[in-house]
Amino acid sequence: MNKQIGFIGGGQMAEALIKGMLAAKLYSADDIYLIEPNTIRRELMESKYGLQCIESHEKFWSECDIVLIAVKPQVMSKVLAAAQPFVTDDKIIITIAAGLPISFYETQLGSNGFKIIRVMPNTPALVLEGTSAICCNNNVTDKELQIAENIFNAVGISVLLDETYLDAATGLSGSGPAYVFSFIEALIDAGIKVGLTRYSAETMAVQTVLGAARLMEKEKKHPAVLRSMVTSPGGTSIAAHHFLEKKGFNGIIMDAVEIAVNKSIELGKQS
Ligand SMILES: NC(=O)c1ccc[n+]([C@@H]2O[C@H](COP(=O)([O-])OP(=O)(O)OC[C@H]3O[C@@H](n4cnc5c(N)ncnc54)[C@H](OP(=O)(O)O)[C@@H]3O)[C@@H](O)[C@H]2O)c1
Repeated sequence: MNKQIGFIGGGQMAEALIKGMLAAKLYSADDIYLIEPNTIRRELMESKYGLQCIESHEKFWSECDIVLIAVKPQVMSKVLAAAQPFVTDDKIIITIAAGLPISFYETQLGSNGFKIIRVMPNTPALVLEGTSAICCNNNVTDKELQIAENIFNAVGISVLLDETYLDAATGLSGSGPAYVFSFIEALIDAGIKVGLTRYSAETMAVQTVLGAARLMEKEKKHPAVLRSMVTSPGGTSIAAHHFLEKKGFNGIIMDAVEIAVNKSIELGKQS
């Protein structure tokens, strides 16, 4: 059974989720409410998706059984202060704000009796290819957690984790697209350096990354096994692989993820 859902914040991530939920027919536009102060975004979400925009927090919280908060972490305190008089412990609160732990919401709302689900999605959700890490507090039932999983599965895949692993997820999949974009950019620059046009280099780099990821997904083999399929004796790929090994390519990526994880922990402590 789907309940009525409300979004606080109608920006990029909210739009991706709404698009996915509508495409998967999890909700109809009539069952989706939105609070969004930005007039341009509000009008766009109304005209493009037929959502119902509400200004009053009181009406919003009385209409919605599930509330998904999709604002920047910097404005979260303000949003929770406006919501606090109307939140009841039967509401399911889902938040996608980076870095803010569940305890932050409990403190701001003045009780640990609320149902809070914290999610770390990533930007490929914009094209329904996202990866979302989901955790919740003890007040959320398995059935309620399933509702959140359904929403994030509509824009990609989701993984259930204990909250202690959310910083790890932030460093791996939350920030992950940034590392992949850097890798693609480097491949494109390399292609141009060896004489390809930008168009050809971009087309080939993007499809190479997409294709390699799809191959691994389909074959379900260890990446070293798949790599061995392209590294023929005395060939080009093993020569390049040797160079990457000497430069510590894997170590650099592992360090980068660890740095992002530590940064996420540090930001969480500041909240
Ligand atoms: N984008 C990502 O890669 C990504 C990945 C993982 C998690 N997240 C998290 O997702 C959340 C949303 O990110 P986003 O990229 O979608 O941000 P966004 O595009 O800036 O959307 C946030 C929206 O919330 C609106 N807003 C500001 N104050 C508000 C308030 N008091 N009440 C209701 N709405 C308010 C903003 O309006 P104004 O523009 O007028 O301020 C904006 O339209 C963030 O917490 C972020 O940490 C994002």
